[in-house]
Parts: sequence; C-alpha cells; structure tokens
Amino acid sequence: MNFELDSMGLVAASDAKCDVLLVLVPQSFQAAKDDLSELVGQVLKSGDLESKPGKPLTLYRPTQVHAIRLVLAGIGDGAARQVRTAVLAAVASVKSAGLKRMVVCFAGPAKEDAVRAAVLAVADASYAFTYGMSKPEGRTLQKVSIAATNASELRATFECTVATVKGVEMAKEWANRAANHATPTLLAEAAKELAKHAKIQCEVLGPKDVAKLGMGAFMAVAQGSEQPLRFVVLRYAGTAKSVAPIVLVGKGITFDSGGISIKPAPEMDEMKFDMSGAASVIGVFRALALLKPTVNVVGLIPACENLLSGRAVKPGDVVTSMSGQTIEILNTDAEGRLVLCDALTYAERFKPSAVIDIATLTGACVVALGGVRSGLFASDEELGAELLAAGETSQDICWRMPLDEEYAEGLKTNFADVANVGGRAGGAITAAKFLQRFTERFSWAHLDIAGTAWKSGGQKGATGRPVGLLLEFLLKRAHSK
Ligand code: BES
Ligand code: MN
Ligand code: ZN
Repeated sequence: MNFELDSMGLVAASDAKCDVLLVLVPQSFQAAKDDLSELVGQVLKSGDLESKPGKPLTLYRPTQVHAIRLVLAGIGDGAARQVRTAVLAAVASVKSAGLKRMVVCFAGPAKEDAVRAAVLAVADASYAFTYGMSKPEGRTLQKVSIAATNASELRATFECTVATVKGVEMAKEWANRAANHATPTLLAEAAKELAKHAKIQCEVLGPKDVAKLGMGAFMAVAQGSEQPLRFVVLRYAGTAKSVAPIVLVGKGITFDSGGISIKPAPEMDEMKFDMSGAASVIGVFRALALLKPTVNVVGLIPACENLLSGRAVKPGDVVTSMSGQTIEILNTDAEGRLVLCDALTYAERFKPSAVIDIATLTGACVVALGGVRSGLFASDEELGAELLAAGETSQDICWRMPLDEEYAEGLKTNFADVANVGGRAGGAITAAKFLQRFTERFSWAHLDIAGTAWKSGGQKGATGRPVGLLLEFLLKRAHSK
C-alpha cells in the first residue's frame, strides 16, 4: 500500500477518480459554494451525519463526486483521537468492497497530529495477516491519498508516519507469526535481511558465542528448548562513528510456556507474542532504513524459547549472569528479565548515550495500565521525559512508573546476589528493579509493553507498538544532537 500527500481541498477531491472518497467533516464545518460542500452541509443539517466520530455515512455514486463511493465521517473537534476513531470506522465500513484506491480528504487545512492519526488508522484498519493462510485474503488497498489544503506544512509528519507504518507492519508481521514459524533462527534471519538496506549491519551470535561471553542468565532460559538461541546485533550508522549510539534491547522470547513454572493452558498461545519487544526493534530499523536520520542506533535481541524438558532450568537454580551477578531463578516464568539482563550488560561495550529495553515483561503491567499506555521506567529523568513526550507526539502513549529502592526489597535471597522474582505486589516495578541492577554504566529506560503490544479476544493480533514511540524519540535525538 502506498500513501501520498496531496494539496487538495473538497473541490479538487470531488474530481478525484477513486473507489472511495472519505471526507472528514469537523463539527465547525462551514459549507462553501461547491456541490460537494453543499451536499456535506445538507447531510449535517438533516441529522443523517453526526459530527461525533464513529458513524460514517456511505453514499453510492453520488453525482457530486467522481468517486464510486463517498464516505462522510464526522471528526468532532478534529483532535487526533477523533480522527482515529472516525477513520477506523470508515475504513472498516467499506473494507469488504475490495477497494484499491482511496482518497482521505480533510475538509480544509489539517493539523499534523490529525494527519498522523489518519495515516495510522487507514493502515491499521486495512491490515491483514496472511502468512500461512492457504487462501490469503490480503489487503486490497493499493493507493491512499491524504488530501488537505495545507499539504506542504504537513510533509515532514506525513513522511515520518508512512515510515512508522512500514515499521509497525513489519513488527506486526513477526509478532503475529506462529512460534513454529518465528523461531529464534528465523527471527534472526529477518534481522539479517534488514542489512540489505544502506547504513544497516547485522551480526548474529549463536550458543557458543553467547557461552563465551558468559551470558549465563540468557543460556539458562534457552536450555530447555531444542531451538538454538540467537543473539542479534543490529547497527544503524546514520552519523559519525564518534557519536555515541542509542541502544534498543528487545525481549525476543519466541514462545513463553513459563518453563517448569508452567503457565495455565488457556490463552497460552498468546505467548507467541512474547517477542514483541524484539519485533519492535526490527520494525524501528525498517523505518530507519527509510528515513535515514542522523543518529546511530544499535539493536540487541536476545531470542530463545522458554520451554520445559529434562534439561530445562529449575526453580531454585542459581546462574551467573554476564555481569558477574549471580541469580537465583525462583520462577522460570520470569524469564524475560533473565535474557534482558545479559543483553543490557552487553550494551555497555557500545558506550551508549542511552539504552532502552522493550519487553512484554509482566502481567502486572497489564493489570496496572491495560492496553492503552505502555509502562515507562527511567533511571534518567531527562530520558524519561523525552520518551513520555515522544509517546504523546507519536500517539503511541506510555506512562511513568516509579523505581523507588524499596521496591527491590523482595528480590533479596539467601542463596545468590539476587532472585528473579519479588512477590506479586508491584510486579511490573520489581521486574524493572531487577533490570536496573544491570544498567549502572549508562542512562537507561525500560518499556513494559505486555499490555500494549497485542490485543486479545476477537481482534487478537499484534499492534506494532511501540515502533511509533521509539522512532519519534530517535528522530528528535537526531535533530537535537
Ligand atoms: N511474558 C510474560 C509476561 C506477560 C504475561 C505478558 C501476560 C503479557 C501477558 C512474562 O514472561 C511472565 O511470565 N511474567 C510473569 C512474572 C512473574 C512470574 C513474576 C508474570 O507476569 O506473571
Ligand atoms: Mn514468562
Ligand atoms: Zn515472557
């Protein structure tokens, strides 16, 4: 699907030849003299169209436009949320029609966040996962034009959002794939493919390399599986070598059964999404390849399965992490922090300006924040503020969580330097406190995306979050440094 941005108002849009013309109508709409404006004015007056978003009105071959279908959708005060709701409903309402060409027209000038919302929503509503279907019913949309009278002011946001969509869709693709079609090896191969793009390099380490590095925590998680672990090192070189990189660390558990501390059967299939952090790192690199910002980025992905077998790690086992700290693995289902802690130690060698890990880390974070905001933990106030702001701008929102020392209390044990779990209370925070022990040498933030990376129920599937947030953060850093 290709997006384009056109400088066009309602008059020009009524001449556009397309399968569907979607007109976004704000509550402040003032009808001009042209036919389409008059039609919109009449429909509003009649009460057949509400200015509140969510209830689109479709007209078939109305004489006022060249398009085969005209869809009118109220966007209320025009805020991003309203535009998102309106566009999602409008695209869903015509989805079955096999549309190829669509024009989305703002009736007048558009704001940057409204354009971002429109592009993201068109992509979201038209997305279709087809891998492994014997009769794939993929996306039919081929070309989507976003039309506004002030297009030139919107160009930068538009380009960034289109790249975000590319990254989001790559992240969705990998997160949605069944665990047997997205093994650590296959995931690493997808990362390697990215190195075909200019400025991107990829190196993949296997079990022997990881053993040599002393990644005892990562190896302990992987040891119950027949699938060999992979440690992916992606690099994007967008500026001078002397500029310290930002390191992104993505949790890459391609399937989380819980290990010996096995999870209950219902919904266990959803644990194929446990590599969503890794998928978001891959998605960000895809977008970097398109936008080529002047920033250096390293992506680290510890990828393995968390399974049970005669060789699996057991509750109570003590392992030595790459940092030298020993860990008592009291619960084998708290595996994310074990693979991440060694990746965080590995990150030190890049002398990074910041390290951000992204992980579907805790069910507790789902309880705390649900599927709306990701949990954001930061030991560095400035970094925390930047990420929070990037979330708002990108419409991929997060929320600051605390890191008080008292939360680390439960991680104490008589048998090792630290335990991998600290009891149920404040579970998202104790997990972050565990990770923080491995981040003393750099400025660090942690995003717990357990609630935001995918949806359960009828709409089950990956969301591609937080590709938008991370990309926005990187682009801001590229401009400021
Ligand atoms: N991958 C899960 C976290 C998770 C749970 C994500 C539910 C999304 C939905 C993680 O590895 C895990 O199992 N965490 C445990 C930690 C506990 C044993 C301290 C959890 O949250 O129950
Ligand atoms: Mn787990
Ligand atoms: Zn997990």
